[in-house]
Amino acid sequence: MKIDRSLALEMARITEAAAVESGRWVGRGNKIAADDAATTAMRDTLNRMDIDGTVVIGEGEMDEAPMLYIGEQLGQGGLKVDIAVDPLEGTNICANGSNGAITTIAMAPTGGFLHAPDMYMDKIITGPAGHGAVDINKSAGENALLLARAKGCDVQDLTVVLLNRPRHKKAIDDLREVGARILLIEDGDVAPAVATGIEDSGIDMVMGIGGAPEGVLTAAAVRCFGGFMQGRLIFTCDEERDRARSMGIDALDRTYQAEEMAQGEVFFAATGVTNGDLVRGVRYFAGGARTHTVVMRSASRTIRFIETLHYFDYKPGYTK
Ligand code: FBP
Repeated sequence: MKIDRSLALEMARITEAAAVESGRWVGRGNKIAADDAATTAMRDTLNRMDIDGTVVIGEGEMDEAPMLYIGEQLGQGGLKVDIAVDPLEGTNICANGSNGAITTIAMAPTGGFLHAPDMYMDKIITGPAGHGAVDINKSAGENALLLARAKGCDVQDLTVVLLNRPRHKKAIDDLREVGARILLIEDGDVAPAVATGIEDSGIDMVMGIGGAPEGVLTAAAVRCFGGFMQGRLIFTCDEERDRARSMGIDALDRTYQAEEMAQGEVFFAATGVTNGDLVRGVRYFAGGARTHTVVMRSASRTIRFIETLHYFDYKPGYTK
């Protein structure tokens, strides 16, 4: 089914509203309140849209999340879509007022998204140059060398992003060994992964273990810029294996390509809450705010950056 391209602008409205509301919580040390603000704004905006949407990647199961839970139906009716959301990606970043928090959403035709449980996923993401070059089964150093060769640059000019976690020590040592530049981030691996698809973002590759739901959102963006991504679920206990099976995942050790995690015509949007390599954060002024959003759709591969000025007196639903 073909989805009308104007959905892209509607999606920007959703992430903008969530960013303006959660942006009020930047640096205030309360990640729950920040996440609630983004979630409420996102849900309200989605519920005003002419869609028949089902949340497949959301804030959790129905019994653990009051809003945007998996299976929740959203919208006024109309176009049937599956929805993947991370209302506030980087809740700690937002609470601490550091760089890289975004609000993000993706949509696909029904059945388009992998129903990834809330667990870990090992991921590797690059722009289009990674196709036929990098592979999740190779070492981090080897992948850096292969990507540099595919891009026609020196490995010392390649920038790789990883979450700053002890589990990534081997990959970090490996990358240092070959001389790649490394950015270690404290949270929020979706924004840098999306930045690999933006020509001059300065980020070439994201690798390592992060959230699986974030992996599916990333896959949607990767589809939109023709990038390369592989993801493999990481199970830490039998309960997680059972959970994955109950969500329809049978081959537990399978390596998924972006095309298998986000199928069909997909749309992706993200708005900055705090400044980052992908988008700028919300800037408030008397009576309004300015937001910076990236919107993409797989059919056209257009990557659109939208700067929006919001005047609260004229925006029902926005908190003044
Ligand atoms: P939040 O859910 O608090 O927004 O954290 C997001 C995140 O940093 C993701 O970007 C990342 O994939 C995952 O958490 C990493 O998980 P962990 O902190 O357990 O290593």
